[in-house]
Amino acid sequence: METLPIGIFDSGLGGLTVAREVIRALPQERIVYLGDTARCPYGPRDLAEVRRFVLEIGTWLERVPVKLIVIACNTATAAGLALAQETFDVPVIGVVEPGARAAVRATLNRSVGVIGTVGTIESGAYSRAVRALDAGVTVFSVATPKFVDVVEAGLRMGPGTLEEWVAESSEVFIRPSFHEIARGYLESLKRSGIDTLVLGCTHFPLLQAAIQQVVGPAVRLISSAEETAHEVAETLESRGRLAGESPERPAHHYFTTGDPAEFARLGSRVLRQRIMHVEPVGLEDLAALLSEERLALVRDDRTEDPVCG
Ligand code: DGL
Repeated sequence: METLPIGIFDSGLGGLTVAREVIRALPQERIVYLGDTARCPYGPRDLAEVRRFVLEIGTWLERVPVKLIVIACNTATAAGLALAQETFDVPVIGVVEPGARAAVRATLNRSVGVIGTVGTIESGAYSRAVRALDAGVTVFSVATPKFVDVVEAGLRMGPGTLEEWVAESSEVFIRPSFHEIARGYLESLKRSGIDTLVLGCTHFPLLQAAIQQVVGPAVRLISSAEETAHEVAETLESRGRLAGESPERPAHHYFTTGDPAEFARLGSRVLRQRIMHVEPVGLEDLAALLSEERLALVRDDRTEDPVCG
């Protein structure tokens, strides 16, 4: 019977929105999650640097070992999915292609908006992924980096889930400022007539209700988390690597390059499940894992993969 866990990583807490869906879709699977909180955000960084992080963390997960790796970060997917798939022996799944697929399925007028970090949007990964699925769909992309700051600030401020917090309280403090920021970013997308908007950043599902208010009810919001979880399930099933049924719930393991206590506190709110224990991982230890051969792959000035998935 298959006993190896699924490895999931992100620049920090946002990838827990993907872990949440994987746990929901595959409750019998064990998860090992690494949040690279010490180096978050990845969004404004050079993609070559993010590619190095992808190889470091992938190598760390490979040694756990895990049976499949999920890059639960759009920026890291855009920067390093293709390289990770070439480098690691286990299947590697990103979040861009699942999001693009869900958007292509959802759009009726074939006009899709995408919001994400600067790294994700400038990489063009979503446009390429959508075009590969349906060349007739027009993609309008806008980088919305301040949304990441809003989520980070919101998580650190109120009790309860961020969704409740943004939706029900802080009328005076965050709501006007979020709406102002959001209108600035999203007005042009609304004018372009999109009927579907991809939340192309793992932080953004936490702002779903607030974003919906700004774009209006006619625009369908797409989060790639659910679709990614389906892809994980399909990949494991087709390879005969699903964990067997068990009466006990599996124990998941959480690691961070940042502060474990803070990760447990904030992560529990994103995951909507109590994270009891988080172990630290040192950045020097991650860096030391990369062989010269793997480092050379990062230094290669390769262009990004045209299609992520
Ligand atoms: N997790 C990142 C993503 O999905 C957002 C946060 C960051 O910039 O690191 O793109």
